[in-house]
Amino acid sequence: MEIIKTIAALQNRLQNQPETIGLVPTMGALHNGHLSLIKTALAQTGLVVCSIFVNPTQFTDASDLEKYPRPVEADIEKLAQAGCAVLFMPDVPEIYPQKEHWHLDIGEIEHRLEGKFRPGHYQGVMQVVYKLFMAVKPDFAYFGQKDFQQVKVIEQMVKLKNLPVKTVMCPIVRDADGLAMSSRNVHLSPEERKHALILSWALHQLKKSYVKEASEELRKEAIELINAEPNVQLEYLEIVNAADLDTDISNPQIGIIALVAAKVGQTRLIDNVILA
Ligand code: PAF
Repeated sequence: MEIIKTIAALQNRLQNQPETIGLVPTMGALHNGHLSLIKTALAQTGLVVCSIFVNPTQFTDASDLEKYPRPVEADIEKLAQAGCAVLFMPDVPEIYPQKEHWHLDIGEIEHRLEGKFRPGHYQGVMQVVYKLFMAVKPDFAYFGQKDFQQVKVIEQMVKLKNLPVKTVMCPIVRDADGLAMSSRNVHLSPEERKHALILSWALHQLKKSYVKEASEELRKEAIELINAEPNVQLEYLEIVNAADLDTDISNPQIGIIALVAAKVGQTRLIDNVILA
């Protein structure tokens, strides 16, 4: 696997590349969820580029940025074993040589759910993903369903900017006990990890009994389940239209999804399940 640190060297490597390029953007601390993205990219494209860049502009909390796990050597090993051809690992000045203003108006979808709790987060995500798209010029880009709202935000950016890339959403990968894999899970103590299971359990129960007519009742039941776990601080659990994340689900064009966010100790977790 080639490790490339500058945009110029990356573009040099990728120019005149005859095969389709699949990009897997990550912030490192790789787990099996990321590796499933690599696997899908390998199956669908000729050359897989993974990026590892802990993007400062998407963090709304400085201490979260500071303590974000960065196990670089282990990540490199995992990617090489998974069959990734190129790892792009720039430093912050390479991506942000100067302070720059970024704003892309993608409408309400930015401000719902995560947007309410992490204002500005998706502007940072779009900013870095746009820069990665410009540097790599991928044919396909792979994102995990766990960050469902992020996928929708990026789709919207691709549409508005008319970018020649197809985004692919890959299913959530869970540990055997149901916990959605996340780079942040390493911050959970063994006790907290047990408490965190209420999130996937509540979503699982919701999906099992889901009928659209009883949405609100079932949502309340799921919230009660989570609130009964005193070590978990629920931020939101919403059932929304999967197209625009609006709580109006009367005309769901592409489906209905339940999304949850909560704090377990100091660790903020998100999860979701497609209901219909
Ligand atoms: O999902 C992530 O890891 C990040 O938000 C992404 C897409 C790599 C942008 O920094």
